[in-house]
Amino acid sequence: MLINVEDYRKRAEKRLPRSIFDLIDGGAEDEITLKRNRAGFEQISLVPRILANVEGRDQSVTVLGNRLEVPFLLAPTGGAKTCWPNGDVLAATGAHKCGTIFIVSTYTGSSLEEIAERAPGKKWFQLYIWRDRSLVKSLVDRAKAAGYEALVLTLDYPVPALRERDVRHSLVLPPKITFKNALESLLHPLWVKRLMFSPSMSMGTLAIAPGVSGKDLKSTSALIKKNIDPSVTWEDLKWFRSIWSGPLVLKGVLSPEDARQAASLGIDAIVVSNHGGRQLDAAISTIEILPEIVEAVNGKTEILMDGGIRRGSDIIKARALGAKAVLIGRPYLYGLAANGGPGVDAVLNILKTEVDRTMALLGISKLSDLNKSYFRYHK
Ligand SMILES: Cc1cc2nc3c(=O)[nH]c(=O)nc-3n(C[C@H](O)[C@H](O)[C@H](O)COP(=O)(O)O)c2cc1C
Repeated sequence: MLINVEDYRKRAEKRLPRSIFDLIDGGAEDEITLKRNRAGFEQISLVPRILANVEGRDQSVTVLGNRLEVPFLLAPTGGAKTCWPNGDVLAATGAHKCGTIFIVSTYTGSSLEEIAERAPGKKWFQLYIWRDRSLVKSLVDRAKAAGYEALVLTLDYPVPALRERDVRHSLVLPPKITFKNALESLLHPLWVKRLMFSPSMSMGTLAIAPGVSGKDLKSTSALIKKNIDPSVTWEDLKWFRSIWSGPLVLKGVLSPEDARQAASLGIDAIVVSNHGGRQLDAAISTIEILPEIVEAVNGKTEILMDGGIRRGSDIIKARALGAKAVLIGRPYLYGLAANGGPGVDAVLNILKTEVDRTMALLGISKLSDLNKSYFRYHK
């Protein structure tokens, strides 16, 4: 029976070959941060009120001027294509049905144009600041032309982290059936069949970018490797402001000093994020640092957060500690891997229902009612 996000995780584990499940589920090195993200939520207790008339409940929020039906957005991930063919289009469609926004990663399987065309609703585009600035500018121009409403710059990726599960599997993308993984493939015939009967796995947005030599995953991966730029500084944000006039969001903020600087530069929103424990291992959990960031920013920029959200009550805790809304990454990928589009819909619906139930049990009718009196920390 699939009644919560963890059930979908377990179903995804069954449906995907081990190396693909680990690609999605795993974190960097010892996965300390991956675990901390979850543990951080467990250290917060909710303090409910009684006799609070919770009959008419409303979990909608406004993020960068957009009214969302639910207090969560779908995080950018490059993982959907490995879970299900057209996984990005299905996830974007699910986000729209749920009344929220899908953030399209630079690494999606379908191109940013195809996702905009095939999936209705508002979308934001995520990108990295790469060495080849003309390539970056071409992506920004394409996102603008396709109607993307905000740009999310991911800044916690100066170098790739070591995800040791992937190293141990000698993971190659697109996946190939080899002698080593033949048994895994035999055990997952439906996944293999979907892989074989769908267009070969690629990174749709990059495959049609100017100056890219080959459209296959190997060529685009080589392009990315060559372009990762560890020399990026705050100065580079000025250039972004000159090529993009819409809302700018910085993702990967963990330090209150960086948050304060982002706010002072007029950045529209920040995402308190450690990339779901996939970059710096031993990094602080996002829910732990969130209150310090809220204090540092002092209302000057909108604050989103992600990492480890698996329950509606986690979303309520993040809101209570000062985040406007949260992003969810792996949960919708588990939904996709378990059951394609309906799996995404089910996961989003579970989270929405859990938020609603938590609000009722906590004694609040709208999220703006939340304040410090509704929780305590315990160690
Ligand atoms: C498989 C996978 C791929 C990801 N790819 C990207 C990406 O392309 N760009 C990005 O900014 N973040 C990426 N992330 C990080 C997510 O945007 C988000 O920060 C993280 O998943 C949140 O943690 P959660 O998975 O515990 O919800 C990825 C995460 C996963 C699990």
